[in-house]
Amino acid sequence: MNSTCTYLVFCISLVFLLAMRCEAIDTTIGFVSQPLNQSNFDIQKPYDVPLEQRYNFSDGVHKLWVLKTDKPHSRNSKTSPRSEIRIRGYDYSSGVWQFEAYGYVPCGTTGVSVMQVFGSNPPYATTTMLIVKDTSLYYYTRTVILSNLYNKWFRLNVIHDVDQKNVKVYIDGVLRYDRAGRLGKSHYFKCGVYSQKEGSFYMESRWRDIRIFKRHD
Ligand SMILES: *[C@@H]1O[C@H](CO)[C@@H](O)[C@H](O)[C@H]1NC(C)=O
Ligand SMILES: *[C@@H]1O[C@H](CO)[C@@H](O)[C@H](O)[C@H]1NC(C)=O
Repeated sequence: MNSTCTYLVFCISLVFLLAMRCEAIDTTIGFVSQPLNQSNFDIQKPYDVPLEQRYNFSDGVHKLWVLKTDKPHSRNSKTSPRSEIRIRGYDYSSGVWQFEAYGYVPCGTTGVSVMQVFGSNPPYATTTMLIVKDTSLYYYTRTVILSNLYNKWFRLNVIHDVDQKNVKVYIDGVLRYDRAGRLGKSHYFKCGVYSQKEGSFYMESRWRDIRIFKRHD
């Protein structure tokens, strides 16, 4: 590359970086942070293994992992294996709610849901699922919301407007998804690992600074 070309590439990169920075917004303005402590984190894990074999909370980081061959979270369930934090105390059926957390997915984990807005009208069970497939994070399985996902922390904000039936997903403050959600009478947030199609043998995600917000009326 000659120097003019190098200079041009540099300028374009700079403009692009600045544009990206400008897009990042504080998604929590107008929202009220809800009190949370460990009692709000209900851990679901394979029913036949002790908690510490699928969950660790240390230095503020919730680490959850599961094996493809694990049992469901309850003896009578026919669902796929999961190790998930189910947020307790903030089930909702109206209003605008927001989940915020920093997430981390280690390389090798694939075919797994790492975050959910639970609850929907049948035939669906969820309004939102964020699914890791290969090296990207998807809204369900079609829309990429974060590529080159592995081995780095990202900030996730999911805003669910029940009355407007809308879901917005922000990664590091940048809007990556904004579309109609699904109906449903009762919702709550989850994060962790919930095995999906073509799941890797070992699946893991980490979460820190989990916060729940409700929009001011
Ligand atoms: C955690 O929060 C719950 C519900 O808000 C409350 O009843 C409980 O006392 C809190 N526990 C601690 C250890 O702060
Ligand atoms: C959780 O992980 C930390 C850091 O790796 C470790 O020191 C601690 O023993 C683990 N706790 C449990 C209950 O396994």
